[in-house]
Amino acid sequence: MAKPKVFVSRVIPEEGLARVREATDATVWEDELPPPRDQLLSAIAGCDGVLTLLTDRVDDEFLDRAGPQLKVVSNFAVGFDNVDVAACTRRGVPVGNTPGVLTETTADLAWALLMAAARRLVEGDRYVRDGKWKTWGPMLLMGPDVHGATIGIVGFGRIGQAVARRAKGFGMRIVYHDLQRVPKAVEAEFDATFMTLEGLLAESDFVSLHTVLSPETKGLINAERLGWMKPTAVLVNTSRGPVVDSVALVDALRNGTIAAAALDVTDPEPLPADHPLVALDNCLVVPHIASASRATRGKMAAMAAANLLAGLRGERLPTPVNPEVYG
Ligand code: GLV
Repeated sequence: MAKPKVFVSRVIPEEGLARVREATDATVWEDELPPPRDQLLSAIAGCDGVLTLLTDRVDDEFLDRAGPQLKVVSNFAVGFDNVDVAACTRRGVPVGNTPGVLTETTADLAWALLMAAARRLVEGDRYVRDGKWKTWGPMLLMGPDVHGATIGIVGFGRIGQAVARRAKGFGMRIVYHDLQRVPKAVEAEFDATFMTLEGLLAESDFVSLHTVLSPETKGLINAERLGWMKPTAVLVNTSRGPVVDSVALVDALRNGTIAAAALDVTDPEPLPADHPLVALDNCLVVPHIASASRATRGKMAAMAAANLLAGLRGERLPTPVNPEVYG
């Protein structure tokens, strides 16, 4: 029997890719850059399954071009804002993501960003490399303490809670905001206090974003809300770039509305090197690498492969984002 036809939109770790190659007739996009839209649409035509990345838009046009035989969309990410899930559900196509395996790794990176921005590590490194380090300076590169400070966590799901666990180790006061309160036992575990977004922004020394990107959270951190923050506050974003209004953030960092930002995700993404955010010393940017530990990317690949292969066999995906597709 012919193997199912599959398109994999980038090279992913062998932990998943080897299984996909073995079990399917796979075409893998080998370039470092994602397939341009027209090439993506040609490559998926007639496929039984697709393994996509967050750089691929899966919408009605994509699904039309793939064709009615498409059995599964497996997204190599926990986030799936690149996928029109409702469109997939309407066509009976299950969508998989990679939750759980990247929680701690993402929280590690959020923590690294928070520490680096607070203690001005990138500025310090640049200072040394630029040959400016002439003596020990009593006023040199001062920043806020992390230990004992207040952290406001916006989005208190798996990753937000993993950040809270780290914050607890630093003796921080933990406040959070989400659409609804988490169970009392979870609040007790982290000594976390629910607050309105306004209250959280006003009281936090560090604000770390862990929401999904949805119409409700797009532009959540806008000029008005940045204005609610302390002038000494540090904003950390490892969620999705458009949760923060970039233009407002540039203004806030320039005008001293807040002290600093540390971003793993940006809007636009990738952030051009001549973007105003890149020119600011009080803004640290890394290229969307929160889940990029070798072990975690391997686990994500294995999980994405498992979702893809289950979908091709007509079985329930291990981690579907639209379980309603199964009626
Ligand atoms: C990365 O951003 C992911 O959603 O996995």
